[in-house]
Amino acid sequence: MKSLCLSGVQPTNFLHVGNYIGALKQWVEIQHRFPCYFCIVDLHAITVAQDPKQLRENVLNTAATYLAVGIDPKRSHVFIQSEVHEHAELGWILGTITRIAELERMTQFKDKAKRRADNVGVGLFTYPALMAADILLYDTTVVPVGEDQMQHVELTRTIARRFNTTFGDTFVIPQALIQKQGARIMGLDDPSVKMSKSATSTMNYIALTDDDDTIRKKIMRAVTDSGKDIVYDPDKKPAVTNLLTIFHHMTGRTIKDLENEFEGKGYGDLKKALADAVIAHVGPIRDKIAEYRKDPKELMRVLDAGRDAAQELATTKMKIVRERVGLGRA
Ligand code: AMP
Ligand code: TRP
Repeated sequence: MKSLCLSGVQPTNFLHVGNYIGALKQWVEIQHRFPCYFCIVDLHAITVAQDPKQLRENVLNTAATYLAVGIDPKRSHVFIQSEVHEHAELGWILGTITRIAELERMTQFKDKAKRRADNVGVGLFTYPALMAADILLYDTTVVPVGEDQMQHVELTRTIARRFNTTFGDTFVIPQALIQKQGARIMGLDDPSVKMSKSATSTMNYIALTDDDDTIRKKIMRAVTDSGKDIVYDPDKKPAVTNLLTIFHHMTGRTIKDLENEFEGKGYGDLKKALADAVIAHVGPIRDKIAEYRKDPKELMRVLDAGRDAAQELATTKMKIVRERVGLGRA
């Protein structure tokens, strides 16, 4: 079977260091191994209310971010989900074989529904069926994501198997690809919750567009643990563990090496060095995002080409799906 990688991010705000470490950094590496499709999932974004003008801005910012972190448009296809209509069509079809009880078990749904109890749309509930469509439409074998998406990829596998059993072998069963360390970067202001674009405080995350002073300020104010040892210990030292994990991903240095360097030193020393490391790594990404946004021609060209490449595969696959399900006329 041919390997193919697909992943996506919701264009709901500027991407942060958690998105980068958990997902995008893996994408950059994997594109040298497989054909890759990287999607900007705007249909998923509208499962919670978005300002229409801002949403379009966020779509372009997200595309610029993909390129700025090192997605090479000569190798990989970058496209906007809503521009390939087959995503919505297959999402609907898969929704008909997805069970309510399965969707009710999704922790992302439970979290988001809790936060807006009086305003939960049907789309937020069926979100995983659309995500399954994104993945299955392309015969995806590998889905590089952060740990929080594991449950959605598992459900995608269940839906694919069910479709294959009911209608005949149609979909490839995909696999999630999750980092060993850094699959779940925690909030700087609260190491018990994941770093999130929708956090109430901007102190929770480092956006890839934050300027140097903001990055430094956020890291220097980050919550730390009791005691003063700088050691990797997710249970006893969740905050320090999180800072060490970010440090590791920003520099490529091993956790052991970092623990050795900071032995006998204080949290302040760790934070100062980490701020320098994040600024050195994120600064050039931020500048490239700004360049792509200033001259949108290149971005438009990449998104056109990505859409055309995705459309080709989606058209072929949906012909088969419609026939298997018995939709329309022969
Ligand atoms: P989202 O921002 O929810 O669209 O997530 C985009 C990608 O980033 C997905 O693969 C997520 O699993 C990943 N991601 C989001 N937040 C984090 C985090 N705090 N740590 C690691 N990965 C994350
Ligand atoms: N649900 C994912 C998230 O919140 C985004 C997403 C939508 C996705 N479709 C996808 C990720 C397909 C991987 C593959 O992060």
